[in-house]
Amino acid sequence: MIRAGIIGLGEIGQYHLPALRAARGAELVAVCDLDRALAERSAAGACAAYDDLETMLSGAALDLLDVCLPHHLHRPVALRAIEAGCHVLLEKPMAISVAECDEITAAAERAGRLVAVSHNQLHYEPHRRLAELIERGVLGELRMLRARLAIGGRYGTWRSDPAKAGGGLLIDAGAHRLYLLRALGGPVHAAGPGWTIPRGGAGTTRSVRPCEPRSRRSRAASVRRRGRSRGGRSWRSWRPRMVRRVPASASCWAVEPGR
Ligand SMILES: NC(=O)c1ccc[n+]([C@@H]2O[C@H](COP(=O)([O-])OP(=O)(O)OC[C@H]3O[C@@H](n4cnc5c(N)ncnc54)[C@H](O)[C@@H]3O)[C@@H](O)[C@H]2O)c1
Repeated sequence: MIRAGIIGLGEIGQYHLPALRAARGAELVAVCDLDRALAERSAAGACAAYDDLETMLSGAALDLLDVCLPHHLHRPVALRAIEAGCHVLLEKPMAISVAECDEITAAAERAGRLVAVSHNQLHYEPHRRLAELIERGVLGELRMLRARLAIGGRYGTWRSDPAKAGGGLLIDAGAHRLYLLRALGGPVHAAGPGWTIPRGGAGTTRSVRPCEPRSRRSRAASVRRRGRSRGGRSWRSWRPRMVRRVPASASCWAVEPGR
């Protein structure tokens, strides 16, 4: 039986609690949150409650630590848990930079521990059905995938601090769109809150203005894939509502350069 603990008992930690309690092969033996009262309530007398990671690691003999903390804490807590001999389940995003993700992966490999990231939306029924339709070729050749994101009202705490969140909407709820698109359509070449479409030699780029207050609600986390026609150099895409012409050099919304 895997002895599991959760650290971070806020919004998502409260969903992980019943899931871990119900998981076959695992036993929830400890919970931890800076908010001691929240930890006690979440433990509900059925497991140990802590308000400090070190005390939990030394007191609970965990095999697995489930990390449901603000993004900037994923790296240090994962590294410490691995050092203490735990496997680690991290909420998305894995960490706030690729370098941090690599550091966690390398530490886990050295220690012979497993690290997983909670990509829960892969398991949503509509997403599973879509994957099946793509796999069976029912939708024809896949040229482009578009994912939209509508979310709001959750800012004001650590999420509003780029040093803690690692960015904005894209690295937060947008992470769900990115792993999903990748799972459905293969490697992602570029992603961003706006949209750019270099048109072979035209010298212009179309883009959504990403940051103006009135467009905030309609911003979408979009991902573009390299088109297969025209020698693989053109981009196929959707046309967002707010489109304007900008110089090609202003195609700066992408967070991942084309490969
Ligand atoms: N998979 C999903 O659908 C989903 C949904 C929401 C959030 N998330 C992810 O879950 C993680 C947490 O987000 P949230 O919305 O639950 O945040 P939250 O702010 O609601 O909860 C974070 C909790 O961590 C606790 N905490 C902070 N620092 C701590 C420390 N050093 N030691 C112990 N506890 C500490 C806080 O007291 C708080 O209770 C993030 O990575 C977020 O992106 C995933």
